[in-house]
Amino acid sequence: MADLSNNDEAVAAAIEAPVAAGEPILQVRNLQKHFPLTQGILFKKQVGAVKAVDGVSFDLFQGETLGIVGESGCGKSTVAKLLMNLERATAGEVFYKGQDITKLSGRALKAVRRNIQMVFQDPYTSLNPRMTVGDIIGEPFDIHPEVAPKGDRRRKVQELLDVVGLNPEYINRYPHQFSGGQRQRIGIARGLALNPEIIICDEPVSALDVSVQAQVINLMGKLQDEFNLSYIFIAHDLSIVRHISDRVGVMYLGKMAEIGTDEQIYEHPTHPYTQALLSAVPVPDPEARAHRERIILTGDVPSPANPPSGCSFRTRCWKAQEKCSQEVPVLAIPQRFQGQDIPAAHSSACHFAEEKQVVPVS
Ligand SMILES: Nc1ncnc2c1ncn2[C@@H]1O[C@H](COP(=O)(O)OP(=O)(O)O)[C@@H](O)[C@H]1O
Ligand SMILES: [Mg+2]
Repeated sequence: MADLSNNDEAVAAAIEAPVAAGEPILQVRNLQKHFPLTQGILFKKQVGAVKAVDGVSFDLFQGETLGIVGESGCGKSTVAKLLMNLERATAGEVFYKGQDITKLSGRALKAVRRNIQMVFQDPYTSLNPRMTVGDIIGEPFDIHPEVAPKGDRRRKVQELLDVVGLNPEYINRYPHQFSGGQRQRIGIARGLALNPEIIICDEPVSALDVSVQAQVINLMGKLQDEFNLSYIFIAHDLSIVRHISDRVGVMYLGKMAEIGTDEQIYEHPTHPYTQALLSAVPVPDPEARAHRERIILTGDVPSPANPPSGCSFRTRCWKAQEKCSQEVPVLAIPQRFQGQDIPAAHSSACHFAEEKQVVPVS
């Protein structure tokens, strides 16, 4: 057992060290989460599985924002929970600073939990209505008192309120006394409390009024620069992540369909699904609207319990051919996206990927 705990210490030390220059802070490899489908009440029998996440791979670099976009049910929140260790992966690995965090426990897991935080979708239900804002934001210090000793907490929480643009005097108020945008600021302050390196934002602005969305996104961009944060920013709509993302990954039915820099995804999309999503985004300019090609997808998203063979998008794809039902198209793990490697950052899981001019989101 001594051996094991030594290993635990070594892993924790690696996790607390700065990320090696040029290395991704997070490497996700072939991540899978299959939820068993059971039948029967007394004697539960597994009759299949919901393939919520079915082989997702990507890298995240320090200080970058990776947007993850896809329709409801495609597995975005499950990816977020796997990265947060809130769900156990069925298969695959998540390397944080080179350490596989999917199988950790003890001190090493605690160190990971401190460094990877989450901001949730719904600021109305994710904040405990019976706790004051001060207690909500300061709660993470109960588990990590080393970050803010008891006597220093109030000052720390007030500082966090100020950082997210809320009056520090609001510390004793309750969540219902705030607007939706302010509540999400509280959620962000809580996410920042432990000084994390990565924040996973699961549709942080989807429940907010459009007019407030931009304010919250701007705040997140400002905080990212200030604290050198890396973001995974989940949304169901390509237009929301455009302004905050350095790169964007498009998910469909538990898989990554395409990933690339924001320019590659918005101006040179090569996967038919990305092209269809982009063509559905409203374009304010009537001139541009008249010239663009609209792609209307037919059919529904298939069930993740029974996905199509080969390419899971083929049942709705206008380009589908025989090969698409027989061979699963593979997405390459893109290379570092900066400098001369930009073309290498682009990858599309399509046998017939090609660029198509669709009017980008403005
Ligand atoms: N705990 C669970 N048990 C069974 N199925 C689940 C569970 N969580 C999610 N799913 C299913 O996994 C799929 C992906 O869900 P989710 O990750 O929430 O998608 P998204 O966040 O993209 O809307 C859906 O079909 C959903 O019904
Ligand atoms: Mg979700």
